[in-house]
Amino acid sequence: MKQVLIAGISGAIGHALATKLLQSDAELSIVGLCRDPSTVSLSGEQAGRVSLISWDAADSDSAKAVGERLAALLPVASGLDMVIYAAGILHGPGMTPEKRLEDLDAQAFAHAFAVNATGFAMLVQAISPWLRHRRFKRILAVSARVGSITDNGFGGWYAYRSSKAALNMLVRNLSIELPRKYRPVACVAVHPGTTLSPLSKPFTRSLAQLQVHSPEETAGNILRLAEGLHEDDNGTFLGWDGSVIPW
Ligand SMILES: NC(=O)c1ccc[n+]([C@@H]2O[C@H](COP(=O)([O-])OP(=O)(O)OC[C@H]3O[C@@H](n4cnc5c(N)ncnc54)[C@H](OP(=O)(O)O)[C@@H]3O)[C@@H](O)[C@H]2O)c1
Repeated sequence: MKQVLIAGISGAIGHALATKLLQSDAELSIVGLCRDPSTVSLSGEQAGRVSLISWDAADSDSAKAVGERLAALLPVASGLDMVIYAAGILHGPGMTPEKRLEDLDAQAFAHAFAVNATGFAMLVQAISPWLRHRRFKRILAVSARVGSITDNGFGGWYAYRSSKAALNMLVRNLSIELPRKYRPVACVAVHPGTTLSPLSKPFTRSLAQLQVHSPEETAGNILRLAEGLHEDDNGTFLGWDGSVIPW
């Protein structure tokens, strides 16, 4: 049976990924992480193939607790075939994407880094025993094009951009270390494309000029990309359409 872990299963993209994966393969089961599992609704049959674990990326002990819960749910020998980090934050209480230097706030920065970057690294550390098997493993960190340093022509959104750039560096670092122990593996950063979700909602006016996808379309695009991954793609930053994005 294929085992997939989705961090951020309560989000628009994370939930659509889970639903599509479950529809596409009756043998597949999912471990879903989110802060409040009671917010995740799935149809009866699908719910039976999803184990939910509560996890808060901003809590430094949370990833370790996920490892302990996972050990009770899934034998290490079964392994995980795919890990998708779809958690992320752009705005929230005390956090608004910054337009200028005067808007910078240290706490908002720390929170953005915890959720958008550190949470990913600590989670991979916690679940690494489940990557020891010999099947091909896909590790996808849902990043954002605005995290590309090369592509930054507009500025602003300091905490979000820099935390996604940090996430990208973590992907690159892991892409160097993971194959030493867990080959075959591909660890990539993925820009999902602009997607209607609570995260993008406050920006719908500016989104009018962009191509905007539904969460279901985005999930289809990400899963197509994941399906086509090879070991050679390890350590790349890819757009939803398969294009390579400069770091
Ligand atoms: N939507 C877009 O246009 C767009 C574009 C580029 C990149 N992205 C990226 O795509 C990913 C998914 O975003 P989305 O559009 O699906 O947004 P969303 O619906 O707002 O989902 C965000 C997810 O992050 C989780 N999260 C937030 N804070 C957390 C914390 N402290 N601990 C654990 N989980 C936390 C949320 O969980 P809770 O339910 O607990 O809040 C939710 O599952 C993000 O990484 C985002 O940066 C999105």
